[in-house]
Amino acid sequence: MSCSAMMRLSSSALAAAVAFSSSATAGLIDINMTAPTSNSSCTALQSAGLKNVYYPGNDIYENRTHSYFSISAQLEPYCIVQPTSAEEVAKIVTILSQDTTRSFAIRSGGHTVWPGAANIDNGVTIDLGLMNKTTFVPETKVAQVGAGSRWREVYGALEPYGVTVTGGRTSTVGVAGFLTGGGNNFYAGRRGFGCDNVVNYEVVLASGQIVNANDTENSGLFRALKGGSANFGIVTRFDMQAFDAPELWGGLVTYPKSVTPQHVAAYVNWTNNIVNYQDGSAITFWTYDPTKKDIIITAAYEDITGAVAAPAFDEFLAIPDQTSNTMRIDTHRNLAIELELTSGYRNVWYAITIKNDLQIVTKAIDMHRQFVEDWKAQSPDGDFICHGILQAIPTIFSQHSVEKGGNMLGLDRETDNAVMFQVQLMVNGEDQEKLGRERMVAFREAIKQYSVDMDGAVEWQYLNYADSTQDPLSTYGQKNIDHIREVAAKFDPTGVFQTRMPGGFKISKVA
Ligand SMILES: Cc1cc2nc3c(=O)[nH]c(=O)nc-3n(C[C@H](O)[C@H](O)[C@H](O)COP(=O)(O)OP(=O)(O)OC[C@H]3O[C@@H](n4cnc5c(N)ncnc54)[C@H](O)[C@@H]3O)c2cc1C
Ligand SMILES: *[C@@H]1O[C@H](CO)[C@@H](O)[C@H](O)[C@H]1NC(C)=O
Ligand SMILES: *[C@@H]1O[C@H](CO)[C@@H](O)[C@H](O)[C@H]1NC(C)=O
Ligand SMILES: *[C@@H]1O[C@H](CO)[C@@H](O)[C@H](O)[C@H]1NC(C)=O
Ligand SMILES: *[C@@H]1O[C@H](CO)[C@@H](O)[C@H](O)[C@H]1NC(C)=O
Ligand SMILES: *[C@@H]1O[C@H](CO)[C@@H](O)[C@H](O)[C@H]1NC(C)=O
Ligand SMILES: *[C@@H]1O[C@H](CO)[C@@H](O)[C@H](O)[C@H]1NC(C)=O
Repeated sequence: MSCSAMMRLSSSALAAAVAFSSSATAGLIDINMTAPTSNSSCTALQSAGLKNVYYPGNDIYENRTHSYFSISAQLEPYCIVQPTSAEEVAKIVTILSQDTTRSFAIRSGGHTVWPGAANIDNGVTIDLGLMNKTTFVPETKVAQVGAGSRWREVYGALEPYGVTVTGGRTSTVGVAGFLTGGGNNFYAGRRGFGCDNVVNYEVVLASGQIVNANDTENSGLFRALKGGSANFGIVTRFDMQAFDAPELWGGLVTYPKSVTPQHVAAYVNWTNNIVNYQDGSAITFWTYDPTKKDIIITAAYEDITGAVAAPAFDEFLAIPDQTSNTMRIDTHRNLAIELELTSGYRNVWYAITIKNDLQIVTKAIDMHRQFVEDWKAQSPDGDFICHGILQAIPTIFSQHSVEKGGNMLGLDRETDNAVMFQVQLMVNGEDQEKLGRERMVAFREAIKQYSVDMDGAVEWQYLNYADSTQDPLSTYGQKNIDHIREVAAKFDPTGVFQTRMPGGFKISKVA
């Protein structure tokens, strides 16, 4: 299933394998032996009794490095440490905080595509991958999810109870980045973002203290963690409100690019109708596929009640010329496995948001077509993938967020339905990545300017899809920016998570 979806959404496994092996040599960065932070961090961790400390060349170190989704994120830390409990995380944070020359990164699923978000050169990477247990509490229907889990494991653990949670639509995504950054999910029309469904966080603070943050305990931290990202501490467990879940109706349908106008029109209508039909999800991808040397359209449709082809899908399903169709009744887990994207490339992504306006959305998709043509003309190996993706952001999502106590995203300020336009560029080699970033920034600014000119700009930039050249927290509204700042200062007064853990989007960098 995963394999065929990968073929559909992207290129051949061979291309990925080639990209993989070439990175193995390109990734061997010389370690600066005289750097003051060098290895003492790692030996200090070992001296303190931490068992899972791995160095370059070690099998586990290399496998964990290669398990970052994007080759761009596969850096070379001095060592990778894998804690197995909140107590061990606390011990690690305490040791690394003691010496002000020590830097570190925190990694959950490793799906942020740009370098340095969840990994670090010249520092220690704290890899939560062994903290991947999900425990279901039937009395409260709460799923206690270890912060190093991937969604596939979470859904699998919950399936026997007939319940699920508002997690990733791709099975390998990590829970911690997804939930601390928001979390768009198949259930958003009904239940809001992933973070809106977290009822308690277990967090290790800079002091090494382990606390709970929920509606009654540390409630400021609780709200800040709903979208405020890695600015406060290390979450070691997420308690999520689970719910009874029948199998879904879902799958992928592909089309030639010739039906682009019908798809764009249907998407705009779909987005406006979500308020009336909250059980559906639709994501439409325009994908340059190097095996076909052309753009194809892939639509991911789902109904969370298992209703087959509900009327809200009529306009989509009337679009002719389907080239493949996997629509069926299946589990949340299997549908997330099907939506896998190809790894093994260097990635540059961005996302901006625009009003749900036919002319602006049409322009965005046309600019993606032009971008692909230009990129193809210069691509040395022709082996690249470029997705242009539409994801509905209707006001009903943030209404659900508000009903559940609110989050940091600031989308409740929007009074019009919006669409997130996301572009993913996947290439080989550092030079192509560098050029890719330059062109992606220009592309982003051009579509932004067009939306401004058309009176259809939306400020919001989604942190979980943002490039390192974006500043998503600055788009979350002054009230939320102030709250994130206050909570960060209160729970991390010396700024460990601003300076010593430099990865991700930092509130201290917001103007
Ligand atoms: C193939 C693919 C599919 C995706 N699908 C979706 C989707 O359906 N919906 C959606 O909303 N997004 C999606 N995303 C985006 C995804 O939400 C982000 O990439 C997210 O950051 C991934 O979480 P992670 O744990 O894998 O990330 P990581 O890269 O491991 O971490 C992300 C950030 O969180 C920090 N962090 C990690 N663990 C912790 C912790 N325990 N406590 C505090 N901070 C921590 C890291 O330091 C880093 O800054 C997808 C991404 C990919 C690559
Ligand atoms: C090694 O690190 C030290 C201290 O950070 C720095 O002064 C020196 O320039 C670095 N040397 C190289 C070759 O990078
Ligand atoms: C770091 O320390 C470990 C354990 O003492 C050692 O095996 C490794 O070679 C050292 N690496 C560097 C780069 O100093
Ligand atoms: C690392 O990955 C290789 C290749 O997939 C596998 O054969 C090996 O068992 C893995 N090693 C560890 C320690 O996980
Ligand atoms: C947790 O991770 C370990 C190591 O990668 C793996 O062997 C195990 O199967 C995972 N646990 C679950 C519940 O998936
Ligand atoms: C909130 O935290 C307190 C203190 O740790 C704890 O007793 C309580 O159970 C938590 N509430 C939830 C909903 O987890
Ligand atoms: C889509 O919406 C437009 C108006 O915005 C309407 O004219 C059209 O009939 C709709 N299409 C369908 C199939 O519902």
